[in-house]
Amino acid sequence: MSKGTLRAYLDFAPREESFRDVALAGLTRHRKAIPCRFLYDARGSELFEAICNLPEYYVTRAEIALLAERAGEIAARIGPRARLIEFGSGASTKVRLLLAALDRPASYVPIDISGGMLHPAASAVAADFPALAVIAVCADYMEPLRLPALVRLTTDRRVGFFPGSTIGNLTPEEAVVFLRGCRELLGPGGAMIVGADLKKDAGVLHAAYNDAAGVTARFTLNLLARMNRELGADFNLKRFAHEAFYNPDAGRIEIYIRSLMDQLVTIAGRRIGFTAGERVHVEYSYKFSVDEFRRLALRAGFKPVDCWTDAENRFSVHYLVA
Ligand code: AVJ
Repeated sequence: MSKGTLRAYLDFAPREESFRDVALAGLTRHRKAIPCRFLYDARGSELFEAICNLPEYYVTRAEIALLAERAGEIAARIGPRARLIEFGSGASTKVRLLLAALDRPASYVPIDISGGMLHPAASAVAADFPALAVIAVCADYMEPLRLPALVRLTTDRRVGFFPGSTIGNLTPEEAVVFLRGCRELLGPGGAMIVGADLKKDAGVLHAAYNDAAGVTARFTLNLLARMNRELGADFNLKRFAHEAFYNPDAGRIEIYIRSLMDQLVTIAGRRIGFTAGERVHVEYSYKFSVDEFRRLALRAGFKPVDCWTDAENRFSVHYLVA
């Protein structure tokens, strides 16, 4: 295959999860909850893009600035001819900062559950980095995954990349399980680069998830609109509210949809009651001190060797060795 094109596209056929089944199960529980991955339909992804441009939402800007500023140091730490494996690569935007700084990277393996996103993004990276072997893997990176032989059969260092503080969506227990899986995938001598949002002033955190323009509220409530669109539900969005606050004891932002009155809603033919003030949990976003994250990494069998933070101490990028 000629240079500048995808070396391989591997479809692990990630199982299509039924939004209907997961939503109904989550809404018939004693404590109602819908997993945050369902926030990202086409409309939700659009709204999340808008969140990233909000003045209050510092997370994405801080990480990109940090990666841009420290790319040389991170690349020096990784060393030559690395194989970079990205978990949840999306549009492959942030990884370009690393790829551009790396010394003759051997390959880039973007893993994403959405083939529609993965194929064009991976092809664009291949076109822009003609010497790089890009091997796209369509899979659910939260499921145990066997990397294909063409990634494993090599003595080059395998380096995982998990930016965005997506790890903060997992509970600490889930994060340890996820990182252990990464460590197995990367093999001995492998390394992992993880972006983690830092603990900071509660007012700054609160504002980041309660923006003045109400975009985050629309993002949260889009989950109800999505049920209306896809499951024939009859949610009246005016009868629910977005609720987000920092829980200092747990060290996390908690996001809920709150019912503003007693009401009955039909979802996929099922009638489900909500009491006034009842909440549906939709997301956690854990915040870490540098030491807390290092302890988490240690529990997963990684040795924390480096950590970069931005000048305003908003965001951290950790370098962990398997
Ligand atoms: C994409 C998980 C990093 O937790 O900050 C932003 C998602 N939710 N505003 C975060 C989110 C509401 C975001 N992550």
